Amino acid sequence: MIMPKRKEWTYYKSQTTPKGLYLPKDKVCIAPNDRGFMLGDGVYEVIRTYNGKPFCLTEHIARLKRSLNEVRIDCPDVLKIEAIVFELLKLNKLRDSDATIYIQITRGVWRRSHTFPTEPVLPTTYMEVMPLTPIAEDTKRGVSAITVSDFRWGRCDIKAIGLLANCLARQRAKECGAAEAIFVRDGVVTEGTHTNLFGVLNGELVTHPKTNHILAGITRDTVIKLSHNLGVPLHETPLPETKLYELDELFLVGTTVEIMPVVSVNGKLIGKGTPGKITKLLQKAFNDYVRSGL
Ligand code: PDD
Repeated sequence: MIMPKRKEWTYYKSQTTPKGLYLPKDKVCIAPNDRGFMLGDGVYEVIRTYNGKPFCLTEHIARLKRSLNEVRIDCPDVLKIEAIVFELLKLNKLRDSDATIYIQITRGVWRRSHTFPTEPVLPTTYMEVMPLTPIAEDTKRGVSAITVSDFRWGRCDIKAIGLLANCLARQRAKECGAAEAIFVRDGVVTEGTHTNLFGVLNGELVTHPKTNHILAGITRDTVIKLSHNLGVPLHETPLPETKLYELDELFLVGTTVEIMPVVSVNGKLIGKGTPGKITKLLQKAFNDYVRSGL
């Protein structure tokens, strides 16, 4: 029997739909002159739900507001995002399952110009929710990674939609049979293409400090909190690339990967080449934390 395709409800607010509409995805029409489409002039967020409950929604919305502020997009509607998230989960029948929520806000529609629109323009807001594809096997076994030069811009702290460098790096990883590309800037390991990074050396955690060279990940913050609760010492300090292979353990963290052990980098084993003790301890604490109260 051929199953009918699930109707994907999205939210779209733009110059042509100024009130904001819930629309099936195939009915959304993005204007060619949308500055997000034409110039990558916009910001985004990715949020996860566990059993229909968005994880760290307040923190994600706060980061979205910060990104908007940093790129000077004035979007008061950001206050309504929480309500739209719940409506989309309802419309898509995802109130009892795990899903990802995507939010994108661009500077709106205006003839192509490197300077901002000279008249007030309504920012474009697009939101969709998607059922989550499980990654449990990788989480247990661990994945491999490669290193690449961090050829991104200097404001990686802004969750900007222009992800060409990230895409090129992750595609290179895929073609090398690896799951993630780890960026290295000036000899220092910064983060992954869509993840932050933690190393373990002699029982202590190390992660890049919050600077303009990494995204201040919500999962990163959660892992730091959990490591404090577990009494695992943690240092927010730059990790030289040369120290990467001396690590006992290495793992990626992010909304879509949670805590993902990295067992080899550039074909060289990290530690014993299997997920390490502290990684597993944090994975358990993380699972308990995100599922608690659900
Ligand atoms: N990426 N670093 C980068 C460059 C990222 O793009 C992300 C998230 C993270 C982890 O942040 P968080 O823990 O808040 O998800 C770190 C999202 C998931 C994406 O682009 O799909």
